[in-house]
Amino acid sequence: MAGIYIHIPFCKRKCTYCDFYKEVAPKFIPSIINSIVKELYLRKDYVQNATIQTIYFGGGTPSILDVEAFKKIFDAIYDIYQVAPDAEITFEANPDDLTNLFLESIQSLPFNRISIGIQSFDDTDLKRINRRHTGQQAIEAVKNVQQFGFANISIDLIYGLPFQTLESWERQLDIALNLQVQHISSYGLTYEEGTVLWKQREDGKVTAVDDETMIEMYKLLIRKLAQKGFHAYEISNFCLPHFKSRHNTSYWNQEPYLGVGPSAHSYDLKSRQWNVSSIKEYTEAIENNTAYFEVEKLSLNDRYNDFVMVSLRTSEGLDLEVLESKFGSLLKTYCLQNIKSYIDTKKVDYLDGKLRLTDDGIQISNLILIDLMKV
Ligand SMILES: C[S@@+](CC[C@H](N)C(=O)[O-])C[C@H]1O[C@@H](n2cnc3c(N)ncnc32)[C@H](O)[C@@H]1O
Ligand code: SF4
Repeated sequence: MAGIYIHIPFCKRKCTYCDFYKEVAPKFIPSIINSIVKELYLRKDYVQNATIQTIYFGGGTPSILDVEAFKKIFDAIYDIYQVAPDAEITFEANPDDLTNLFLESIQSLPFNRISIGIQSFDDTDLKRINRRHTGQQAIEAVKNVQQFGFANISIDLIYGLPFQTLESWERQLDIALNLQVQHISSYGLTYEEGTVLWKQREDGKVTAVDDETMIEMYKLLIRKLAQKGFHAYEISNFCLPHFKSRHNTSYWNQEPYLGVGPSAHSYDLKSRQWNVSSIKEYTEAIENNTAYFEVEKLSLNDRYNDFVMVSLRTSEGLDLEVLESKFGSLLKTYCLQNIKSYIDTKKVDYLDGKLRLTDDGIQISNLILIDLMKV
C-alpha cells in the first residue's frame, strides 16, 4: 500500500494566514509540470512496486491547472505505477475555479474526490484574509461539483478567524451542514510566523480570538457535526460513515508515500525526504540531475514520536500493543509513565489497551504530545 502526493505550488493570490509553499507565478506552470513528470520517473522505485491506493493533488492550488496539465501527470503515473482500480484520487480546489467549463473539462480525468478550500462563508471574513471568492461563490461551487457527479466532497473551514464570534462561527457551520458534503476538515487558525496575518497581529491590526472562545468554537464544531452524523475520526477531520480521507489516514497509519513537486515530503518507513521549496531550484535541479531534496534517516525515537503524535490525534487512539510491537517494551513503559497524570486527570482514556484523548484532553493535545515525546 502506498500513496502519491503532488504539490502544485501556485496561487492566484496569497491568503494572509497561509505558509504553505506557493508562488503567484503562472508563467512557471508548464515547466513545473514537466519537472513533476520527470520526478515521477526519476523516483519510480521509491515505493518499491507497491500498489498505489491514493493520489492527492495539494497546494497551493491544483485547480489552477488545465486538463492538459493534469493529463500529463496522470499519464506518467499510470505509465509507471500500479494504481489500484478503486484508488482514492483527490484534488484541492479553490471555489472560484470550479466553473462549469472547468468541471466539464476534467470529466475525463480519474478524480473521485475533491477538497474545496472554503474557510468561511462570511464575505467580511473572506476579505480580511484575502480570499479570492465570496460566500455565495463557495456555496455555488459545492452545488456545481455535486451536479457534475462528485459524491465524495470535502470542504475546509477555519475557526477563530480575526474578529470571528461564536455566533458567526455557528452560522458558518449551519451553512456548511446544509450543503450535504461528506467530509469537513476544520482547523483553528494558527498565526504562522512570517505570514501577513502574523505581521498584522504583531502590529496590533488584528486581535487573535482568545483561548476560551477557541475552545468553545471547537466544542461547537464537534457538537453540531455529530448531530448531523459526522464522526470526528481525527482532531480536525470529520466525515459521514465510509467517507474518511484514505490519503490522510494512510499518513496517520504511517504507510509509505511519494511526494513530488517543490516542497513535497516523502516517507518510506525508514526516512523522510523533503523537496526544496523553490520553483527555480527545483526545476533546475531536475533538469541538471542534481540534488533537490534533503533526507533525514529516522531513528527509533523519531519513529516512536511520529507514531504517538499521529495516533493520539485519531479517534481510534493509540494502541499500546501496536506501539510495543513496533518500538519495544521500553518505549511502551516510557509512554505509559508520561501519560499517567493525564489519565488520572481524565484528559486521556485508557481502555482495552488503547489511549484516547477525551474532549478535555483534545484542548491541551499539544501539551500532552510534548510530554510523550522521546528525545
Ligand atoms: C494549503 S491549503 C490548500 C487549499 C486551497 N488552496 C485553498 O486555499 O482553498 C489547505 C488548507 O489548510 C488550511 N490552512 C492553511 N493555513 C492555515 C492556518 N494558518 N490556520 C488554519 N488553517 C490553515 C486551510 O483550511 C486550507 O484550506
Ligand atoms: S490557503 Fe490556499 S489559496 Fe490561500 S495562499 Fe494558501 S494555498 Fe493559496
